[in-house]
Amino acid sequence: MTADGAYREDGEGRIRVLMKTEESFEPPPEFVAQANASDPGIYERANEDPEAWWGSWAEKLEWIEPFDEILDWSDPPFAKWFGGGKLNVSANCLDRHVEAGNGDRVAYYWEGEDGTRKELTYAWLHTETQKFANALKGLGIGKGDVVGIYMPMIPEAPVAMLACTRIGAIHNVVFGGFSAGSVVERMQFSEAKALITADATMRRGKPTPMKASIDGTLDHVESLEHVIVVNRGDSDPPMTEGRDHFWHDLVDAADPECPPEPMDAEDPLFILYTSGSTAKPKGIQHTTGGYLTGVSATHKLVFDLKDDDIYWCAADIGWITGHSYIVYGPLANGATSVMYEGAPNFPAEDRWWEIVERYGVTIMYTAPTAIRACMKWGVEHTQKHDLSSIRLLGSVGEPINPRAWLWYSENIGGGRCPVVDTWWQTETGAIMISPLPGLTTTKPGSATVPLPGIEAKIFDEDGNEVEEGAGLLVLTRPWPSMARTLYKEPERFVETYWSRFGNDVYLVGDAARIDEDGYFWIVGRTDDVINVSGHRLSTMEVESALVSAEGVAEAAVIGVPDEDTGQAIFAFVTPEGGVEGGDELEAKLRDHVADKIGKLARPKHMAFADDLPKTRSGKIMRRLLRDIAAGNELGDVSTLRDPEVVKDLQEQVKE
Ligand code: WTA
Repeated sequence: MTADGAYREDGEGRIRVLMKTEESFEPPPEFVAQANASDPGIYERANEDPEAWWGSWAEKLEWIEPFDEILDWSDPPFAKWFGGGKLNVSANCLDRHVEAGNGDRVAYYWEGEDGTRKELTYAWLHTETQKFANALKGLGIGKGDVVGIYMPMIPEAPVAMLACTRIGAIHNVVFGGFSAGSVVERMQFSEAKALITADATMRRGKPTPMKASIDGTLDHVESLEHVIVVNRGDSDPPMTEGRDHFWHDLVDAADPECPPEPMDAEDPLFILYTSGSTAKPKGIQHTTGGYLTGVSATHKLVFDLKDDDIYWCAADIGWITGHSYIVYGPLANGATSVMYEGAPNFPAEDRWWEIVERYGVTIMYTAPTAIRACMKWGVEHTQKHDLSSIRLLGSVGEPINPRAWLWYSENIGGGRCPVVDTWWQTETGAIMISPLPGLTTTKPGSATVPLPGIEAKIFDEDGNEVEEGAGLLVLTRPWPSMARTLYKEPERFVETYWSRFGNDVYLVGDAARIDEDGYFWIVGRTDDVINVSGHRLSTMEVESALVSAEGVAEAAVIGVPDEDTGQAIFAFVTPEGGVEGGDELEAKLRDHVADKIGKLARPKHMAFADDLPKTRSGKIMRRLLRDIAAGNELGDVSTLRDPEVVKDLQEQVKE
């Protein structure tokens, strides 16, 4: 990767993913006229007094007891926001709207992959959440207990999350595409007391077992007392007497009234595991008051949310994007959203656009990888439907290449909608760098500038600020939705994010470039994290999955540019003596990784060699592996322990 951006094959030859385009787009005047934020002075005001800015957003929430201090930053990096305040997240997301007379308002137009449609109103969510909260209480779960959630995109998923917040339990959601091994590991690390799952998930028209797929491994989670199973697929899952309960049995018997637990602003709200530089995922911990302030403010500003909007974030609830912009941001703001269960191309490639037309979606938020898939499928699928309701488009998860940006703007936005490329992370909780659609001139490929109240900079290796050019992205001021720690690993939190440039500078882990206008261009990760279709995977995690397979002596994994998924996984494997590398082993290893981590972590490319390129001291030379994978000319390889292996690998890559 170069400072100016990565290269990748585009079908039309080699293009730069992050090339600097000369094109820029002013916010359309009709949009500006109605925008929530159209006064450029908000940047200045917020940046002069960030605490007052965030305080004003926090005040829009409903507090059981008001806060008496906005920010305590006396012990960085451990921030305390809204000290003294007490609130409940589910009360802010539900009770507030029902009490204001908006119980009949639709919170989610839910659409199952099989075509089932449900309108979930705020009143319905309110009742179901209270019932399920009582069910959890009945099982002895309460404030501070960790509850795992491993579910498909079904109505019960947000209900489960909200019910946890109602009683002060800490949810730990694991993306439904992860395998049993990943689920169990995350339950063990967090000492989860209960796990909520479903019998099956619908995939391409068929129920795929979910509970059964993890059932055999749950015995390894010593802390686990209860497993609650939603019946999604009528599939008769294995149930362990005493431990396992059906959701409907518990909810049917539950009292519909459960008063919200008053929580301290700094009480943990949830943990969400994400991949880091080591094989052990990091439990990012978010808190109650700051997180809700951050997601509600950014959801309102960045998406220009209005009462009559139909908002659709097409992510999965299992990722931070789903937490912040399907569940908590939209519900705190009383929004009406679309929630879709299944694959974008089932039964056909126009499924998403059919949904947009059916519900009259006005705001759409998705990932570059999905946009590139739609480009590939062709405009005939988008053209079948009336997309004129759309007024704003958003992108998240990975750098969006200008070609995809322009295609999105033109073919989905009809050339009339602002595009907001939103940069943020699991750790930041909410959007950090993004256009404000009524204010910011956009440049395709750039997430533009930090939001009001946020301060981002580019540092060189020595911590000097780069005014124009490339370097390490840092955030230099605390913000309410910042991660407070890593669950049970505070030292690792400090070491990973807050030690490189001092304990008040947040090291993001991304490289970026800042241009002459102060616009940020994200290049990619600087740590050992691979971003496949916007999903963060650690090289170490994949490597340890590979070496746990029979017949593998050693493995090294790198990320390579990929036309469809942004990056793809390339695995270099040394088989054990007597084991043949080749297609058969490759297929076996792909299955093995799917088993250990999940299908999303399967290497796309694999090469085998008797040894990996190593220095004489035995260190694997990843830089060389990257050059081999890219087919680049290799420089001097004479320092290698065994220069011969390189030729072998190069030949396989050519094939
Ligand atoms: C990358 C997802 C460029 C980045 C919300 C970051 C992006 C990581 C963008 C976080 C964007 C996310 N442009 N890169 N708009 N959004 N990233 O934790 O490398 O799953 O550090 O959070 O995704 O991924 P995470």
